[in-house]
Amino acid sequence: MALNIGLRRMQRAVRAARQAGRHAPSVIVVGAGMSGLGTGIQLARAGVTDFTIVEQSDGVGGTWRDNTYPGSGCDVPSHLYSFSFASKTDWSRRFAEQPEILTYAEQCVERYGLAPHLRLGTTVNDACFDEASGTWKVSVTSAQGGSEVLDADAVVFACGQLNRPAIPDLPGLDSFGGPTWHSARWDHGVDLKGKRVAVVGSGASAIQFVPPVAAEAGQLSIFQRSSNYVLPKPDRVYGRRERWLLSHVRAYELAYRWRIYWSLETKWLAFRKDSWAGRFLGKMITKGIRAEVVSERMPEESVVPDYPVGCKRLLISNDWYPAILRPTVEVVNEPIDHVETDAVVTADGKRRPADVLIFGTGFHTTDFLSSIPITGRNGRTLASAWEDGARAYLGITVSGFPNCFLLYGPNTNLGHNSILFMVERQLNVVLQALALHTEARCADGVAADGVSAIEVTADAYDRDDARIQRLMAGTTWVNGCRSWYKTASGRVTNNWPTWTVRYWLDTLRLRPGDMKVTTTLPVAPVAACDMGETSPSASEALPVAGPVSAHPIAT
Ligand SMILES: Cc1cc2nc3c(=O)[nH]c(=O)nc-3n(C[C@H](O)[C@H](O)[C@H](O)COP(=O)(O)OP(=O)(O)OC[C@H]3O[C@@H](n4cnc5c(N)ncnc54)[C@H](O)[C@@H]3O)c2cc1C
Ligand SMILES: NC(=O)c1ccc[n+]([C@@H]2O[C@H](COP(=O)([O-])OP(=O)(O)OC[C@H]3O[C@@H](n4cnc5c(N)ncnc54)[C@H](OP(=O)(O)O)[C@@H]3O)[C@@H](O)[C@H]2O)c1
Repeated sequence: MALNIGLRRMQRAVRAARQAGRHAPSVIVVGAGMSGLGTGIQLARAGVTDFTIVEQSDGVGGTWRDNTYPGSGCDVPSHLYSFSFASKTDWSRRFAEQPEILTYAEQCVERYGLAPHLRLGTTVNDACFDEASGTWKVSVTSAQGGSEVLDADAVVFACGQLNRPAIPDLPGLDSFGGPTWHSARWDHGVDLKGKRVAVVGSGASAIQFVPPVAAEAGQLSIFQRSSNYVLPKPDRVYGRRERWLLSHVRAYELAYRWRIYWSLETKWLAFRKDSWAGRFLGKMITKGIRAEVVSERMPEESVVPDYPVGCKRLLISNDWYPAILRPTVEVVNEPIDHVETDAVVTADGKRRPADVLIFGTGFHTTDFLSSIPITGRNGRTLASAWEDGARAYLGITVSGFPNCFLLYGPNTNLGHNSILFMVERQLNVVLQALALHTEARCADGVAADGVSAIEVTADAYDRDDARIQRLMAGTTWVNGCRSWYKTASGRVTNNWPTWTVRYWLDTLRLRPGDMKVTTTLPVAPVAACDMGETSPSASEALPVAGPVSAHPIAT
């Protein structure tokens, strides 16, 4: 998968900078989920030593640290859910469960010596590009309450799309007397044995935790707004021989990864709007559900979706239908009206008593990075740049925000393949950009302490966004279903709209002409960032020097 162009280019640039007595760029990475750790690994491999990974929680792993609910696990075969540059070859089963994935994340820290670069329990509050110094000022607060402003040549936001739990504002929710939690904040202290449990939502998380909860609970009511297309999960434990081969024969492991990649990639055919593959898949799944699940107790409306396949996430499970068919489980399609101290009441006035209330209601997803005010050139904020919905060039960088990169950013989520594949491709671009940044600083004639900024041109940014939205019009996501992929106005902000192999090609090399590097003479600071008292540039307003060079790049 790799062709590590970015890594090799960055290694060369860092070596050359050191030889010329210049400094390699310093980088702040926000988030220590898989994307942040992948960034750390690649920076370390490139020879960058001055980088800090800032993480608000007290551990690494992001998604896999948060989602400890029973049944939590991957729905992508795990060999493709590890970085090709830091692969894990000894997965115990085809679809690994959460503890094994979290262990992989922790092993990455150990294997690549990331621990000294980690600042856990530290929240990034805001970030601002300081034009005078060409650096990012990032204000952070530690769990102990101490605040400071960090400074680096570049910043990488690896904050994920799925980690801010969304809980519906149900009337009476505050009055509920029993324990209540979101799937990403599971309360393992509560014993569900024999309890009356109410679950709101039936998405990807719920279909994983409902079966184990159903096995424990005395009575389970699932409040469902939409049903899902659910395919069987071709899971199995790896035998000893196979594990040995995967761990010791690199060619075998690579071939296995490729097979997984291409078998997932062909599923894209079903995600195209009104495609024959989508219609065929939808019919097959529906036929199976009608034959095996629909009954007097389980009416069609509870299990047969009323939207095209893929419009919401296509789910895989072997135990969802057996779970909802248990006599102690009820799927409720009536909307919730309100919550009482010990019950959930639906619009038809029916009361379902509940001791515990669990939300599998997903995350705030379309307002990317909204919790961190980010200011780029000329005091322009990311929020204002994204007034009409989040967007980024290849999901990675935004016009007017130099030396700033996003991982798993807008339009890089998938419905059919591994997110880590996408993150790897993004890192290939980030490293190429950082290499250009480093080379520009070291170019002949540039003052030793000159500053440089690399950014996407406004033209390339707009062109890429128009292309993404044009391709999006041909996907199943623009169909009339509700999903976490789109804003209230219907703009699909989260998903990549075509084959991932196209993304691979698009992210192979930075395109000449799409980026520009500006090299500037060093000057006194200008008042751009208001970072409080600790900011070196908060109180002065001096002019910025003109560029020594401002040119499109040639790769
Ligand atoms: C339950 C679940 C299952 C999934 N399963 C799959 C799967 O099978 N296959 C797949 O490809 N994808 C899956 N995904 C998507 C998954 O999110 C990605 O694959 C991947 O883990 C994202 O990693 P990330 O590092 O980009 O984001 P995250 O894992 O969300 O990590 C972001 C990190 O940034 C930190 N952060 C955020 N804001 C700040 C701040 N202001 N200051 C400091 N730190 C901050 C967060 O605390 C978090 O640790 C799943 C998602 C969920 C929720
Ligand atoms: N590896 C895996 O298998 C796995 C597991 C978990 C999560 N994930 C990833 O994480 C994403 C999010 O999964 P998720 O299940 O946490 O969230 P989700 O897919 O967004 O599902 C949320 C569920 O809650 C329902 N809901 C939301 N608001 C509601 C309300 N106000 N009232 C009633 N019901 C409400 C939704 O109904 P509607 O459908 O009608 O909106 C949906 O059924 C997935 O799409 C996937 O990418 C992957």
